[in-house]
Amino acid sequence: MGIDFSASRLSYEKDELIEKNIGNTPYPLFDRWIKDALAEQVKEPYAMSVATCGSDNRPSVRTVLMREVVERGDEVLLVFYTNYDSDKGQDLAQNPHAECLFFWADLERQVRISGAVQKLDEELSDAYFNSRPKDSQLAAWVSRPQSGVVDSRETMENDFVKLSAKFGENVPRPAFWGGYLLIADKIEFWQGRANRMHDRIVYKKENDKWVRERILP
Ligand SMILES: Cc1cc2nc3c(=O)[nH]c(=O)nc-3n(C[C@H](O)[C@H](O)[C@H](O)COP(=O)(O)O)c2cc1C
Repeated sequence: MGIDFSASRLSYEKDELIEKNIGNTPYPLFDRWIKDALAEQVKEPYAMSVATCGSDNRPSVRTVLMREVVERGDEVLLVFYTNYDSDKGQDLAQNPHAECLFFWADLERQVRISGAVQKLDEELSDAYFNSRPKDSQLAAWVSRPQSGVVDSRETMENDFVKLSAKFGENVPRPAFWGGYLLIADKIEFWQGRANRMHDRIVYKKENDKWVRERILP
């Protein structure tokens, strides 16, 4: 049993990534690529894989939704929301670094963004939590702790109903749920090219300045 993909081969020919067309800092290119993905109707182009590694030295990765990306001065900041007691939350408490990965197959593009991670200011987490639909707010409460074992679907649904009755219309943000801010110190852009001669451009922070380099495919 199994599936053999060894003969599956796509040639990537949609675009190129050439120094003369990009800037010395990474944000404008990321902005352009996200907008290209939206225009291409990639479903949830702001979904990213986030890799963390706690003190057990075992990397783990999962998808989350990037809720905001901003350029502040020379910094590129990514925001995502989750449960602070989840596996990723525990990893980040032990080792506050992560790498986020976007893969937009339709554009033959990948972006990797790594850096230090810190909890978002509580007021910002409150504001985002309050903007969510009530059902999502209740689901955040049900998931305590996220990634903990539950005996059945029914237990979750009963808890949801109980919490809904308890809170009424105003569901407060749980202290165990909120945002993280990733402060990028390395961003790699990958554009697939024919013959596996892909374009890869890395921006790295060195002495607080972005340095741009081409790296081998
Ligand atoms: C498309 C998609 C979007 C997701 N977005 C989030 C998110 O924004 N925040 C979150 O905590 N989990 C999100 N999840 C669930 C996570 O992938 C994961 O199951 C959960 O956060 C628990 O991960 P952990 O146990 O590694 O901490 C998403 C999953 C998918 C497939």
